[in-house]
Amino acid sequence: MCILEGKGVQYSYDNKKKVLKDIHIQLETSKMYAILGPSGCGKTTLLSLLGGLDCPTGGQILFKGKELKKTDLSDYRKNHVAFIFQSYNLIDYMTAVENVRLSTRLPAWPVLEKLGLTKEEAHRNVLKLSGGQQQRVAIARALASEAPIILADEPTGNLDEDTAKGIFTILQESAHQLNKCVVIVTHSYELAKQADVILQLKHGEVQMLTHFKQESGN
Ligand SMILES: Nc1ncnc2c1ncn2[C@@H]1O[C@H](COP(=O)(O)OP(=O)(O)OP(=O)(O)O)[C@@H](O)[C@H]1O
Ligand SMILES: [Mg+2]
Repeated sequence: MCILEGKGVQYSYDNKKKVLKDIHIQLETSKMYAILGPSGCGKTTLLSLLGGLDCPTGGQILFKGKELKKTDLSDYRKNHVAFIFQSYNLIDYMTAVENVRLSTRLPAWPVLEKLGLTKEEAHRNVLKLSGGQQQRVAIARALASEAPIILADEPTGNLDEDTAKGIFTILQESAHQLNKCVVIVTHSYELAKQADVILQLKHGEVQMLTHFKQESGN
């Protein structure tokens, strides 16, 4: 089912240069998407529009067929999207467990444990965790959320290759087993190959590099 759609999406920060020129994108539940593209090409911009953090300057973003900017955006951000920010956006006076609890009433510890944190680390103030550990807390917070869409902006940029692969597998499970629509920005083609669909953002437009795995027989 198509849950999120971009139709002719345009965006410009200064009314002069268009960062996004003509984005056509259809994102389905139960699928994991990877977005590749050079630094500065507009990946974070696109993700923030899909997440309702900003509105396109042209074209439309539709959530379940309804134009996003005509719906209650704060309800959309709170209940329908889980964001993993490039800069983590953790609440810095809280522990890892407390940060994860912000997005769920379920116990926070199991998801932190799944991401490789120890119990002691989970109860430490997040500022006293390493960059990679903080990144995993941000991922845990999104995984613990019940939102049907996960938008992840370079979620493994601070992690070693094996840990990054493991996290992509966990995000893939969220798509395939929990029927979420998972969209991940990454600079790694190796990691992107774990997605069902690879999208390339270039010159303000999106191109599909691969089709669904089932269709291509991989
Ligand atoms: N708040 C802003 N005001 C003006 N220009 C901005 C702003 N945020 C981003 N830009 C510009 O818009 C373009 C796209 O930025 P964006 O952050 O979306 O790129 P990106 O693909 O995510 O890059 P990276 O891979 O380095 O994270 C860049 O040229 C950037 O300088
Ligand atoms: Mg970015």
